[in-house]
Amino acid sequence: MEHPDEQIESPPQFQTFGSCEIEILKSFSLIIFGASGDLAKRKLMPALYHLFEDGLLPDNFFIFCTDRLEMNDDQYRALIKSNVTSAAPQDFKSSGWLKFAKRLYYSSFNYTDQDSYRRHLKEKLPPLEKRYRTNGNRVFYLAIPPSILESVIVNLGEAGLSAEETGYSHVVIEKPFGRNFETARNLNNVLTKYFEERQIFRIDHYLAKETVQNMLMFRFANSILEPLWNRRYIDHIQITSSETLGVEHRAGYYEEAGVIRDMFQSHIFQLLTVTAMEPPVAFKADFVRDEKTKVFRSMRPFPTEKLDDFIAIGQYGKGAISGKTVAGYREEPGVSSKSITPTFAAMKVLIDNWRWNGVPFYLRSGKRLPVRKTEISIHFRQVPHMMFSKVMDEIIEPNVLVFRLQPEEGISLALQTKKPGTKVCLNPVQMDFSYRKDVFLEAYEWVLLDCILGDRMLFLRQEGVEQTWSLLTPAIEQLETTTEVGKFPDYAAGSSGPDEARLLIEKDGRTWRPLITAKPDERIHITRLRGHKS
Ligand code: BG6
Repeated sequence: MEHPDEQIESPPQFQTFGSCEIEILKSFSLIIFGASGDLAKRKLMPALYHLFEDGLLPDNFFIFCTDRLEMNDDQYRALIKSNVTSAAPQDFKSSGWLKFAKRLYYSSFNYTDQDSYRRHLKEKLPPLEKRYRTNGNRVFYLAIPPSILESVIVNLGEAGLSAEETGYSHVVIEKPFGRNFETARNLNNVLTKYFEERQIFRIDHYLAKETVQNMLMFRFANSILEPLWNRRYIDHIQITSSETLGVEHRAGYYEEAGVIRDMFQSHIFQLLTVTAMEPPVAFKADFVRDEKTKVFRSMRPFPTEKLDDFIAIGQYGKGAISGKTVAGYREEPGVSSKSITPTFAAMKVLIDNWRWNGVPFYLRSGKRLPVRKTEISIHFRQVPHMMFSKVMDEIIEPNVLVFRLQPEEGISLALQTKKPGTKVCLNPVQMDFSYRKDVFLEAYEWVLLDCILGDRMLFLRQEGVEQTWSLLTPAIEQLETTTEVGKFPDYAAGSSGPDEARLLIEKDGRTWRPLITAKPDERIHITRLRGHKS
C-alpha cells in the first residue's frame, strides 16, 4: 500500500516568491510540543508567522501548541505576539497577526502522562482537522528538552499518533540527538519502534542556510570546479563557526553538552560532508544522504593516544566583546565555578579516500569570539613553479575560495593579478559574489516548509547521526576524563580562542584565516602585496 507521503493527488505546484519558486504546501496541522519554550518562542513562531505573512502557508492549516504551563488560547496568543513582534518589529502587521493568531490553539499538557495524549490530542485534534480540512496531515514538532524526548515519543506511539490513516504523520526532532553513541542509538531505536524512517525529520538548521545549499549547486552545477576539487589542487580546508554570544540562559543544557556536542556533532560535521561528498546520482534526499554517509565512513577516527595533535579545546574567561566587558563562562548563571565544559574546540580531520587523502580539514567553533561568522574556505595549493621569484622576494599567496554562510552570505575567490606599471608586482584581488536579500527565508522557515512538504534533503538520517557519534564519543570521553579544572579559562572573551588552537594548525605549517577580515575594498590594501615593496 502506498504511504500517505506518496499519495500524490496532483503534481507539486509552485508559486513565485521574490526571485524563487517555492512549492505550495498542502493542508496540514502542526502540533508543537514545548510551545512556550525558548526555541518555539524565538524561532518557530516567528518563522511560522513570517511564512503566513508571505503567503507561503496554505488556506487550510492550524497550529496546536502544547506545554506544561497552564494557559488558555488567548493568553498563549498574547505571549507569542510579544515574541513575534520583538523578533522583527518592522515585519509585524496587526491585521496579519490577527488572522494568524486565530489558528493558534493551546493546551496545557503533562508530557509523561499517557492520558494527556488521549485527552488533548486524540480528542481535540479531529474536530479541528475537520474544521480546517487538513486531511489528517500532521506534523509533530518536538521542541522539548532531551531528557523527556524518549518518553514523549513512546507516549505518542502508544497513543497511536504515529499511525497514518488518512494523512501523513511526521515527527520533527531537534539536536542533540543523544549525548553519545549509545544514547543516540537508543533514541533511534525508540523512534523507529513507532515511526518509520521516512516519517522522522532530524533537524540541523545549518543545512537550511542558503549558502550551504548553494555549496552543492556551486560544486555540482559548475563543471570548472570538479577537476579542482581534490587533493591535487587543494592544500587544506577550513570550516569556522564563530559566535560572539556566550552561553546566555542555557547553562543547564550547555554544561552537559559543551561545544563538541553542541556544534560539531551536527552543524560542523554536516558542513564538512557538504564540502567533501562525491556528486550524488541525483539531487534527491536519499542519494545526497548516501554520499554524506560515505564521507563519515571515510573519516579517520581520532587517535586517542595523541589526541592533542587533532583536537584543542578551550573555555572563555572574562573579556570584552565590541568594547563591552563580559563575564567568563564560569561566572555565567547556572555554570559551576569549576566547570571543565569546553566552549571552544578546534579539530583536524582527515578523510581517507581517493579524493581527500592528505588534505586536512581544520574545523573550529567557539563562543565569545570577536565576531559572528560562519564560513568554509578552500585553500588551494601554491603555484608549482615560482617564475616570479627572481623579481619578487616573497611567495605568492595561494588562491582561497570562501563560502560565507553568515553574515553577508556570499562567495569570494582570492586571485592574483598584475598591478599596473612596468615593475612586476602582483595585486591580490577578490572576486566577490553577495546574495541579493530580496528572498531570504530564515533557516527555520525553510526547515518548516520542508518537514511539511515531506522533503528530507535537509534532515539527518539515523546512520549519519550514529556515525558522527561513533567518531566523536571516544574523543569526548577522553577529554572529559583528562581535562583538569586548572586548564580553564584559557581564552579571553573577544579573543580568537586558545593558543593550543593556533598551534594545532601552525605545527602543520598553516594558519587559520583571521576571524576579523577587512571589508572587500580594504582587502587589497591590507593583503601583503607579494613582491611589491612599497
Ligand atoms: C545551535 C546551538 O544549534 O546553534 C547554539 O545549540 C548556537 O549553541 C546556534 O548558538 C548557532 O546557530 P546560528 O544559526 O546562530 O549560527
